[in-house]
Amino acid sequence: MTVHFIGAGPGAADLLTLRGRDLLARCPVCLYAGSIVPRDMLSHCPPDARLVDTAPMTLDMIEAEYVTAHAAGHDVARLHSGDLSVYSAVAEQIRRLERHAIPWTMTPGVPAFAAAASVLGRELTMPEVAQSVVLTRVSGRASAMPDTETLKAFGATGATLAIHLAIHALDRIVADLTPLYGADCPVAIVARATWPDQVVLRGTLGNITTQLAEHPIERTALVLVGRALGQHDFRESALYNPDYHRRFRT
Ligand SMILES: C[S@@+](CC[C@H](N)C(=O)[O-])C[C@H]1O[C@@H](n2cnc3c(N)ncnc32)[C@H](O)[C@@H]1O
Repeated sequence: MTVHFIGAGPGAADLLTLRGRDLLARCPVCLYAGSIVPRDMLSHCPPDARLVDTAPMTLDMIEAEYVTAHAAGHDVARLHSGDLSVYSAVAEQIRRLERHAIPWTMTPGVPAFAAAASVLGRELTMPEVAQSVVLTRVSGRASAMPDTETLKAFGATGATLAIHLAIHALDRIVADLTPLYGADCPVAIVARATWPDQVVLRGTLGNITTQLAEHPIERTALVLVGRALGQHDFRESALYNPDYHRRFRT
């Protein structure tokens, strides 16, 4: 028996990986976060699968589900939104599984920041403008930020920032980043990227708070900040330059 952690992607049911779909199809138990995993995705589960919405559950209750499935010899598919590598709380579940010597695997998913970039039709890195993307968040009720991981510190690099779990803190984001990026720096807010009710706000650090006041968004949104978002006048990368010699181009 194995618990398979699966990144469910940002929302659209067809952004699940083939590997994730095949695991869903063969696990008799599926745990999913009902608030952020689309119901359509569960249609890949066997018709008689035990489907458990973890939204109202504590970690102890989730652990008990794993232990019960293990005793019954039932594989478990465990869906989490986006990818598992950021803000997914798989680490604490894995720690508990290991206490019970229950085997587990991880299958990646499309992260929200990548989905938001696609919705915007933007590459988040641009030659000589920004070559790094910082996936970060602001302090919230669930967990505080380490002291050194401030928006000001990340903003000082000029990287493109993908700020998660932060729509309630837009004023603070604007106050911290305007001195570093300038009031004309592009900002995009993408809410519920790839869901049918997705919302996109595009603006600058100077006007994004007004836009949010006019189009209130309360959750499941990414705030993207950086010069790369608005750049049209950038140098082409050397990759396709005829003078750039690559191993696979004769
Ligand atoms: C608990 S984190 C999960 C992140 C996820 N593991 C990932 O790989 O993107 C939830 C936050 O991710 C962002 N997020 C998740 N899905 C999103 C979506 N479809 N559109 C925009 N932001 C999303 C929001 O900032 C949301 O508050």
